[in-house]
Amino acid sequence: MNNNRPLIQITDICKTYQTGKIIFKALKNVSLTINKGEYIAILGQSGSGKSTLMQIIGCLSTPTSGNYLLDDKEVSKLSRNELAKIRNQKIGFVFQSFNLLSGITAVDNVALPLVYRGISMGKRIKAAKNILTKLNLADHFNHRPNELSGGQQQRVAIARALITEPEVILADEPTGNLDSESGAEVIKIFEGLHALGKTIIFVTHDLALAKRAERIIQIHDGQIMVKF
Ligand SMILES: Nc1ncnc2c1ncn2[C@@H]1O[C@H](COP(=O)(O)OP(=O)(O)O)[C@@H](O)[C@H]1O
Ligand SMILES: [Mg+2]
Repeated sequence: MNNNRPLIQITDICKTYQTGKIIFKALKNVSLTINKGEYIAILGQSGSGKSTLMQIIGCLSTPTSGNYLLDDKEVSKLSRNELAKIRNQKIGFVFQSFNLLSGITAVDNVALPLVYRGISMGKRIKAAKNILTKLNLADHFNHRPNELSGGQQQRVAIARALITEPEVILADEPTGNLDSESGAEVIKIFEGLHALGKTIIFVTHDLALAKRAERIIQIHDGQIMVKF
């Protein structure tokens, strides 16, 4: 699904990292448009700049130069606080290492983003249980992350990403720590979300996985090489 309305418009973005005196260009003049409802894979080798690009798209960091319009709003020069607000409104993030809080249950992990929206506890728990049930985790509401398999933990993380009903799901190597069966399950969930009209962008270094997306954006040494 692609309704030709741009969600992400990146123009000539550079990102440099400075470590002591060494300056490293992780992204070099990257330009990219992603429309609402697209299902995209970002493909590239380790160190090519995939995570750097995802962090900028996801408003976890800002570019050193260049412009980024997210849903028609310029976000490349916003403060940390302003970025955090936009993230909570528009972005659902899924990480390779799940990034769940270890001391709390699946339900509480999923409900957490709603705390920052001032939603009551009863409503938060209900919404969290609802999404976990859709992701086949109705029997695991009260399990803590270390009582769940990797695949189950990633599904909890996806539920947490979905609970705010974000415009876009960004997943950085979401299958990187999973066996092939659990990885396939994660990709199937993304395909289902895409069919419902959600914009999905996932990072992988696995060409076979990337080919399941509608469009592949290949990145090499901080530059976009091929847009299939
Ligand atoms: N915070 C940082 N400080 C310095 N260098 C970094 C930092 N983050 C990433 N890099 C460097 O930028 C390059 C791209 O990293 P990254 O975006 O994580 O690549 P990928 O996700 O494709 O493996 C790598 O060479 C990495 O070492
Ligand atoms: Mg990475």
